Amino acid sequence: MKTTHIGLLGLGTVGKGVAEALSHQHSVVIEKILVRCTDRYHADLPLTTDVRDILENPEIDIVVEVMGGIEPAHTYLVAALEQGKSVVTANKEVIARFGPELMTLARQTHTTLLFEASVGGGLPILDALTWHLRTMPIHAIEGVVNGTTNFILHQMEQGMNFSEALKRAQNLGFAEQDPSADIDGWDSARKLAILSGLAFHTWIHPDQGQVTGISHVRSSHLQRLTRMGFGMRLVGRVERHPTSLGFVVAPTVYPLGHRYLTLTGSQNAVGIVSDAGTTWIEGPGAGGLATATSIVSDIQRIRFMIPDREPIRFENRRLDHIDDAYLVFAEDPNQILPIIPETLKSGPGFLILPFPLPPEEGLVQYRYRAK
Ligand SMILES: NC(=O)c1ccc[n+]([C@@H]2O[C@H](COP(=O)([O-])OP(=O)(O)OC[C@H]3O[C@@H](n4cnc5c(N)ncnc54)[C@H](OP(=O)(O)O)[C@@H]3O)[C@@H](O)[C@H]2O)c1
Repeated sequence: MKTTHIGLLGLGTVGKGVAEALSHQHSVVIEKILVRCTDRYHADLPLTTDVRDILENPEIDIVVEVMGGIEPAHTYLVAALEQGKSVVTANKEVIARFGPELMTLARQTHTTLLFEASVGGGLPILDALTWHLRTMPIHAIEGVVNGTTNFILHQMEQGMNFSEALKRAQNLGFAEQDPSADIDGWDSARKLAILSGLAFHTWIHPDQGQVTGISHVRSSHLQRLTRMGFGMRLVGRVERHPTSLGFVVAPTVYPLGHRYLTLTGSQNAVGIVSDAGTTWIEGPGAGGLATATSIVSDIQRIRFMIPDREPIRFENRRLDHIDDAYLVFAEDPNQILPIIPETLKSGPGFLILPFPLPPEEGLVQYRYRAK
């Protein structure tokens, strides 16, 4: 089989993982690697600081983008597709924002655009949606797709406060120096938007959805929840309603023993609910080599000319709230909660309500799911 020549944009955590994974493959060669400054890397690597050495290089068949951020990544991806090169990217920001346009451009230029690594790092979630569950009507997708928040919430369950847990996550490389996309829920929302696009053919703008992060969660809440038999993770859910889609990312409370509560670091878990039941995909959602497995798998799909997903005709659908229950508790455990409808589960200082309460001082509420 003909050797495939790769142009790699970016040589950070994932870029190094891709270079390492491809070093074991004989018929895939990294032709050029774009970096900002060559001094920081081994002199033997085929480095360049000029992106034209990749985008205008006729030897290069596939451009792999692992730089992150919207620009210049988006401009480079458009240029690569226009030059007739296929593209593999891990960039959820670009795909969540420009996915449909880039897919259309790839079709027009007879190239392929694949982005498995953009959701769930090393997990084959898009593959499952595109191929494995291809004939199954999908009703909902739900999951924990952000490792940083798993790590922080787990540390807080052990008694650390939010800022200490965040600092620890940054020191250990779990969180970016600017952690806002993770802790405010936008990273999860972008991944959920990509899943929604592929599953429901509706491309959601994450900022139109119901997105809440974890920065208001206190370790005292988590410890109290543990004593009450609950735990919390940042969970996203998108579900098909008759004429709309429900879309939510929020700190969500589950009874202890739930699979999400075992996720304490970069592990992700996604459940795809279809006519076939719920298909769970769980494993490493981040990390250089783990994410590289998804990228190398996309490269191989292009090399072996495994057909791309069928063209998707995207529809506009209204976004709805999801009817969840809410676990509400008083900041002061001795405080008696103001409303106790008879039908609700209640315990010392907490209530489970089938609706959110209007914000009230001294009350804290989180999404609650019994299943
Ligand atoms: N890390 C993960 O586990 C993971 C998992 C799934 C998806 N992803 C996605 O993969 C992408 C890369 O993530 P990462 O963790 O590898 O990030 P990273 O460690 O920050 O690496 C990005 C690399 O790209 C380089 N870069 C950025 N802009 C550039 C430019 N204009 N020209 C040349 N080089 C440029 C950076 O160089 P400097 O160091 O000089 O800035 C850095 O070396 C992101 O889209 C991320 O969301 C990451």
